[in-house]
This record gives sequence, structure tokens and C-alpha cells, in this order.
Amino acid sequence: MILVVGANGMLGQDLMQVLTGDVRGVDIEEIDITSLESTRRVLLTLKPAVVVNAAAYTDVDGCETNRELAMQVNGEGVAHLALTALEIGARLVQVSTDYVFDGKKESPWREDDPTGPLSVYGESKLAGELNARLVPDHLIVRTQWLYGLNGKNFVETMLRLAGEKKELSVVDDQIGSPTWTVDLSLAIKALLDKGCRGTYHAANAGYCSWNSFARAIFEEAGLDVKVNPMSTKDLGRPAVRPLYSVLDCGKLAADTGFAPEPWRQALRKYLQLRKTG
Ligand SMILES: NC(=O)c1ccc[n+]([C@@H]2O[C@H](COP(=O)([O-])OP(=O)(O)OC[C@H]3O[C@@H](n4cnc5c(N)ncnc54)[C@H](OP(=O)(O)O)[C@@H]3O)[C@@H](O)[C@H]2O)c1
Repeated sequence: MILVVGANGMLGQDLMQVLTGDVRGVDIEEIDITSLESTRRVLLTLKPAVVVNAAAYTDVDGCETNRELAMQVNGEGVAHLALTALEIGARLVQVSTDYVFDGKKESPWREDDPTGPLSVYGESKLAGELNARLVPDHLIVRTQWLYGLNGKNFVETMLRLAGEKKELSVVDDQIGSPTWTVDLSLAIKALLDKGCRGTYHAANAGYCSWNSFARAIFEEAGLDVKVNPMSTKDLGRPAVRPLYSVLDCGKLAADTGFAPEPWRQALRKYLQLRKTG
């Protein structure tokens, strides 16, 4: 059985749709990964062959003022899953992030590039990666700029703002790859199906700035909103974000034969699905 932890989250809900076979999902009501006791109770009862951890404390700015909680959920929580996975002989799949990098490279980040998180969130997710590696049969999937039908995300924020304003300012100096949670779920399924181990990057193909992503959202949705450029510095968010965080997904394609579609095509599909339900 595959057990998805964090099954009610944005990615978790799409994983539950995409993964096939005997798939169960649990979230905070049934399992609290910050507690070893709670984690052991659930995993020793269900005895999954594979644990996919999509649970996390994902409020990047909130992590700056809640360091302890960030480390408990994103770091120690993964240690609890890893120790219990070792106990029951399960594989552990840990979802991680581009925010483990410092964004100072000028070409796509590879799996073995040195990490250097700039934020508490990034640090806590890096701690999670180290803990996941306690399980020899682990899979770490780093991704970025997620959006999906079942969570708060940039696409939904832009569409909401379009109903309130005719003009917006969006940062144009952070570069990454917007990634649809369905395509990430398909990548995780491909990695599981091929029995891949170790660290992989998975994101939709191509890249853009948040500013050009916003423009694309409005163009594809047929909305007339003026998008002005602004700098990350002027936005002044509490957590420092990597400026260049494009992930090189070549290893995923080479080892599974699965290459996520271009980001704009994924966005089009998402907006269509959102309209038709
Ligand atoms: N969103 C992005 O842009 C992005 C980018 C890169 C990587 N990621 C990674 O992708 C994964 C999925 O992200 P997401 O955006 O789908 O997250 P999400 O929507 O915030 O879902 C996370 C889920 O985990 C649950 N959870 C929180 N603390 C828990 C605990 N102690 N025990 C058990 N469950 C707990 C949450 O419950 P509550 O809602 O009740 O707290 C929520 O259902 C995460 O590992 C994240 O770090 C996300």
C-alpha cells in the first residue's frame, strides 16, 4: 500500500487522484508527524510499503517567525517518518523545494549542486532532506512554484486580484518554473513506477519570472489587467527567496522517460479544468 501523508494539502489531493493501486491518505486529523508516537501508531497499524510525505509547514514567511514549528514539522517530522519507515521496511518519498538553494547560480540547479538555504523554510526543508536520507530506500523530489485546484497559490491569488484591481505590481527578478501539482504527481508516480531512489528535481518545463507568470495567467484567462514590474527588494517580504531557482529536470526524464510538459501548456489545462470543474 502507498500511504500519502498530508493527503488534504494542495499536492496531497492530486497525489491521491494520480497514484494508482492501493492508496490511502492521512492528514493532521489522523497523524501528527511532529509526534513520533502518533507517526508510529499510524504507520505500524497501516504498514504501508511506500510512504509519500506531502505534509509540511508551507507558510514561507510564517516560518521566519515560527522557526521552532518549521523545524518540528519540516525537519523532525521527516525524522519520525524515516525512523518508522525503517522499522516497517517502507520506502520514503519526501517532497522538497528549490528553496534549499541560494539562487545565485545562472544555470538550472542540478540535484548534486551545493545547497545553501536563505530562509528558515529552506533550512527546515533541508533538515527534512537529511532526515529522509536515513532510509536507504528514499526518494527526495524537489519542486517549485506549485499551484493546484486544492490550495492557496499564486494563480488563485492573481485571479482574485483581477476581480478587485485593473493594475498590479508583480516581482520580475525571481525566476523559476511554475509547476502544476498534477504534473508533479505524475512525475512522482513515474519515479515510483521505475523504482528510482535518491534525489530528483521535478517541475514543469521552461521558466519565467513571477511577473511574466502573472501576465500569462491574465492572457490565458482573457482578463485585462496591467502588470507592472517591481523588485523583490521593494516587495520586502520577511523570508529571503532565491532569485534564480530553475531546476534541471534532466535526471527525471533520463531515468523515467517522463518529462513534465511546458509550464504555459500546464497553466492552460489548469485554467480549463478550473472552469469546467
Ligand atoms: N506550494 C509550493 O509552492 C511548494 C513549492 C516547493 C515545494 N513544496 C513542497 O511540496 C509539498 C506539498 O506542498 P503543498 O503546497 O501541497 O502544502 P499544503 O497545501 O500546505 O499541504 C500540507 C498539508 O500538510 C498538513 N500538515 C501540516 N502539519 C502537519 C503535521 N504536523 N502532521 C501532519 N500533517 C500536517 C497540512 O495540514 P493543515 O493545512 O491543517 O496545516 C496540509 O494538509 C510540501 O513538502 C512543500 O514543502 C511546495
